[in-house]
Amino acid sequence: MQRRPKIGIIISTTRPGRFADIPTNWLFNIAKERNDADFEIVDLRDYPMPFFEEKVPLHVAPPLNEVALRWGEKVASLDGYIFVTAEYNHSIPAVLKNALDYLWSEIHRKPAGFLGYGGGGAARAVEHLRNILATAQVASLPRAVHIGMIEMMGMMREGKSMADYPYLDDYVQADAGRARLVGQHTQGRPLWRQGCRGSLSSGHQESAKVATTVPIPAYGH
Ligand SMILES: Cc1cc2nc3c(=O)[nH]c(=O)nc-3n(C[C@H](O)[C@H](O)[C@H](O)COP(=O)(O)O)c2cc1C
Repeated sequence: MQRRPKIGIIISTTRPGRFADIPTNWLFNIAKERNDADFEIVDLRDYPMPFFEEKVPLHVAPPLNEVALRWGEKVASLDGYIFVTAEYNHSIPAVLKNALDYLWSEIHRKPAGFLGYGGGGAARAVEHLRNILATAQVASLPRAVHIGMIEMMGMMREGKSMADYPYLDDYVQADAGRARLVGQHTQGRPLWRQGCRGSLSSGHQESAKVATTVPIPAYGH
């Protein structure tokens, strides 16, 4: 029997008083009811890394920094990710970018979903994150859950809670369905090696075949 995939819900801001805990806990409570995957919250506060200062790039050697090593081990232990991200100056928070800069093969060819919160639902940050993750060969889900300013202001200024916005729950369930499809394809192995069947065009199937011939760089290679 295949084991259940382990999905990390990554909290991407660390400042005191952050809003991040509200959407993260809400998402985690919905996710843990599922019986097709295990979820855990991974908080960047628990990985206080310096701004990237490794002497050699990480495709050459693992980081010397011990916190970064621990962060990499955590990421490697997970089969997929949901990034809960704010929007800072139309992009992702620097602390998240820095944490991603400390990764290499730990995240390669795994799926990622997104929950953005902020003005415009942090759509710009999520799109930037997709671009960054493309470099890391991450299979990002095409949709995301977006919590906008109206909902945030309701919670921050009017004493409302996530329960006052039940339509957001539907959003998550719809995305979880897509995540499950990607998860079925990966199960800890590279997405492209699963043999893409069904809905893919012959052109895409050709691309997938080509992709299987591309070696994955590893430490020391
Ligand atoms: C440095 C900084 C930059 C921000 N830039 C944006 C922005 O570009 N767009 C936006 O919608 N909100 C922006 N905000 C507002 C954040 O969406 C809001 O403060 C949110 O609560 C931040 O997430 P956090 O509380 O988890 O840190 C910014 C906030 C900070 C602190």
